[in-house]
Amino acid sequence: MGKGFFISKALGVVAIILGAGALATIIALSVVYSQEKAKNNNQVSPTDGGTTSKPPATTSSPSNEPWDKYRLPKSLMPSQYNVSLWPRLRPNSETGLYIFTGESSVEFKCAEETDLILIHANKLNFTKLENQMARLTSVNSGVKAPSIKSSLLQNVTQYLVLQLDGKLMKDHIYHLYTEFTGELADDLGGFYRSEYMEDGEKKVVATTQMQPTDARKAFPCFDEPAMKAIFHITLIHDHGTVALSNGEQKESSNFTKDGQNVQKTAFEPTVKMSTYLLAFIVSEFGYINDTIDGVSIRIFARKPAIAGGQGLYALNKTGPILKFFENYYSYKYPLPKSDQIALPDFNAGAMENWGLITYRETALLYDEVYSSNSNKQRIATIIAHELAHMWFGNLVTLRWWNDLWLNEGFASYVEYLGANKAEPNWNVKDLIVLSDVHRVFAVDALVSSHPLSSKEEDIQKPAQISELFDAISYSKGASVLRMLSDFLTEEVFTIGLKTYLTDFAFGNAGYTDLWDHLQMAVDANGTELNDTVHNIMNTWVLQMGFPVVTINTKTGNVSQKHFLLDPESKVTVESPFKYEWIIPIKSMNIGGIQNPIVWLKDKSATFDEMKTSGADWVLANLDVVGYYRVNYDQDNWDRLLNALKTNHLSIPVINRAQLVDDAFNLARAKIIPTVLALKITKYLNKERDYMPWESALTNMDFFYLMFDRSEVYGPMQNYLRKQVIPLFEYYENMTDNWNKVPDGHMDQYNQVNAISLACRTGLEECQHLTKLWFNQWITTNKNQIHPNLRSTVYCNAIATGGFEEWEFAWSKFVNATIAIEADKLRSALACTKQPWLLNRYLEYTLDPNMIRKQDATSTIVYIANNVVGHSLAWDFVRARWEFIFKGYGGGSFSFSNLINGVTKRFSTEFELQQLKQFKTDNSEVGFGSGTLALDQSIERTISNIKWITENKQNVMDWFKTEAKPNEALLF
Ligand code: BES
Ligand code: ZN
Repeated sequence: MGKGFFISKALGVVAIILGAGALATIIALSVVYSQEKAKNNNQVSPTDGGTTSKPPATTSSPSNEPWDKYRLPKSLMPSQYNVSLWPRLRPNSETGLYIFTGESSVEFKCAEETDLILIHANKLNFTKLENQMARLTSVNSGVKAPSIKSSLLQNVTQYLVLQLDGKLMKDHIYHLYTEFTGELADDLGGFYRSEYMEDGEKKVVATTQMQPTDARKAFPCFDEPAMKAIFHITLIHDHGTVALSNGEQKESSNFTKDGQNVQKTAFEPTVKMSTYLLAFIVSEFGYINDTIDGVSIRIFARKPAIAGGQGLYALNKTGPILKFFENYYSYKYPLPKSDQIALPDFNAGAMENWGLITYRETALLYDEVYSSNSNKQRIATIIAHELAHMWFGNLVTLRWWNDLWLNEGFASYVEYLGANKAEPNWNVKDLIVLSDVHRVFAVDALVSSHPLSSKEEDIQKPAQISELFDAISYSKGASVLRMLSDFLTEEVFTIGLKTYLTDFAFGNAGYTDLWDHLQMAVDANGTELNDTVHNIMNTWVLQMGFPVVTINTKTGNVSQKHFLLDPESKVTVESPFKYEWIIPIKSMNIGGIQNPIVWLKDKSATFDEMKTSGADWVLANLDVVGYYRVNYDQDNWDRLLNALKTNHLSIPVINRAQLVDDAFNLARAKIIPTVLALKITKYLNKERDYMPWESALTNMDFFYLMFDRSEVYGPMQNYLRKQVIPLFEYYENMTDNWNKVPDGHMDQYNQVNAISLACRTGLEECQHLTKLWFNQWITTNKNQIHPNLRSTVYCNAIATGGFEEWEFAWSKFVNATIAIEADKLRSALACTKQPWLLNRYLEYTLDPNMIRKQDATSTIVYIANNVVGHSLAWDFVRARWEFIFKGYGGGSFSFSNLINGVTKRFSTEFELQQLKQFKTDNSEVGFGSGTLALDQSIERTISNIKWITENKQNVMDWFKTEAKPNEALLF
């Protein structure tokens, strides 16, 4: 997720607040499912009216013809394309549709004799040329190309199918020419349009998102990552607009076509590359630029955003990050330019098109007044992530999508290294533990998880490819690569990387090729490893899940076991390694003494390093570089608890976060008592660092989800309020009564946590403050709230406010010209406790005039985070599933977030039945990238039901005892 769609923690926290009392109202006002469903059936799906082409007859019955297979045959190999595209930025006066027209010629070599040409094409309407949809010519003089006998479009597998009256000859080169029309729809995929208002005028941008399989929606192409070619691109566009593509502009001239005087811009041929990395953009954007060591760097965005200086941060950071990666990979940036562009409508967070990276506005544009430190960090890391792909992914590309995890996992790891270079004072590298390792542990602990690596034959259809863009590929990929780099040492890791990139430059590879190169580096360096890189990594890559390592400090015995959130769930998938891993263990003892790394290769082993006595403790998985959880014997837990209580700084900050997260999850898996996990939170009244607090809040979120509609809620609030007060006061002092911004990046984050939790637990002083700040904005129309605090302040004010606050925020949202501010308001609008406002807001989410399509699913998830909105959002989603699925697919991870988001509070039999019913009801429609998320949600619900039954009473008792009676009065 990618993280583009992951909702910020602070927002999530605040959004869940509020109002068990509103429960009755929810039930009364809750949308009646059947009514909604009826309404839905009358709705026209956005894709229904969408296509310009009514393709001719297709083969519909399943057969075994080559065009019924999703993978291209190996008979034809493209070498170069000449593509000319003309997007119309005004609608056709008759049809009202926006379209583009194009001409394309592809040169390919015949590798095996064949009388069939299959080339990808989707939703394109081909002009007949001599009665066929394409024209074939031969390049070799003296060899005549066969004629096209018949041409048809196979919609299911997305091919243009050309049958020839004779064979193409092996090793001969041919040209295939086509003319076509496509719709420039607002569907965020292929060649699509984005719209925005400027000075009261609607502006249209034509732009692209090809990954994974939508280049075929822009022009006919061999649309697989290993079919690399050189692309000669030409764009036709109106005067006054700017045309961009992967290559530098070669020439731009006046041109008259179809009676219109337009501009024709040709680009330098690209390097040899995959189709999914192409980009074509026509806009009226402005830009700023710089040159670094001969590489031209430009940032493009809407003109007012550029004029307002919002591109400067990205411009200033791109150079250093690019240089960092050149150095890290020991390979020069392979292109003469690096353009980056912020688009008003964009489905993912960003896309690594080679030389022309596309972003949603919030991921690239930084504004001094409006952006928070979290917004800034996202910009730095996302730039680093996409720039990392320029080598890893673009220069060397995985052969097929089944290895996507290596591409995305790698970029998701090194994005932290790149961002650290851009902002060395932030300690941003530590945050991978919270954002990736801990985050993915939650899904990888389910039996419905899956291994990082998929089999090539299992990944065929576009929907199967899209499904791979999930937390496992991104976050588990990042986590295991970080572990690998750590045990090899960065020096050896980067030597292996360098030879891998050099060997496969402009070509394709598989993940085992990387292991080969790393092994060569290991051998050359004489690094001592317990086994080969292949053997070690296979245990992490070829089986799902991860181990819990149990250390008995009395005996020094260390053992491993597959960690399952629900210990009663049955693993039905066999693993080649029987769910055992080769585990590197770094550890330390009291006094900060680090032990040499030990390797656990079998089910269990005994190590002297793990044996302690007296007051000494062992702390394993230092800095959480290993992809596993750790459990100890009770004595060692007690000693660690004591260390936290008496001198928490003796344990490194990342491991304090780990102790909290491990303990809560071990408790959920019934390995340790829940009360032991709760006990750890007692030291938080002395904790001032961000990471442990954040870890605790994530785990408390689960408690909120499970208990905010039950009698546990009150005592829990009392206890947490008591724990957060010292932190709240600490920041009150540090900031001179909220008048200054803390210096440190992490402190800025933790200040937000302090306010969110204090307000959430009903601390009056906090609620008073947020109301005051928001009301000052309403009355003076001047917003003086610091951007770091805006999300939480807006949310709290809207939650405790009513119609007036909501309408005020909505009007600010509608008129916002800065996407980052609009986003903060959009999430806060979901915090209201008024069911009718939430229902109306839900309706807005599917109206692109109110909420941009790119933001629809995340807005529904914001609403579901709110205790009042949860059932409303669930009713809404299941009633409109087909409409949402067809109109908001776009081949990204938003569906898995949507399904996870609207079901995460599920904890009753009734909800479980509804969830299963939802799965059955929509089996025909499908769930696309949300397929796996649905099974995960079912599994999670089952585990939640059990957890509540087993824990409710003792959790309530514990909170009651721990919250001092005199503070138990607010609820
Ligand atoms: N290649 C992806 C973008 C993408 C995602 C394309 C899903 C098609 C489907 C890009 O490199 C990416 O991973 N973007 C992330 C940002 C990153 C910082 C995790 C995103 O979009 O959120
Ligand atoms: Zn990526």
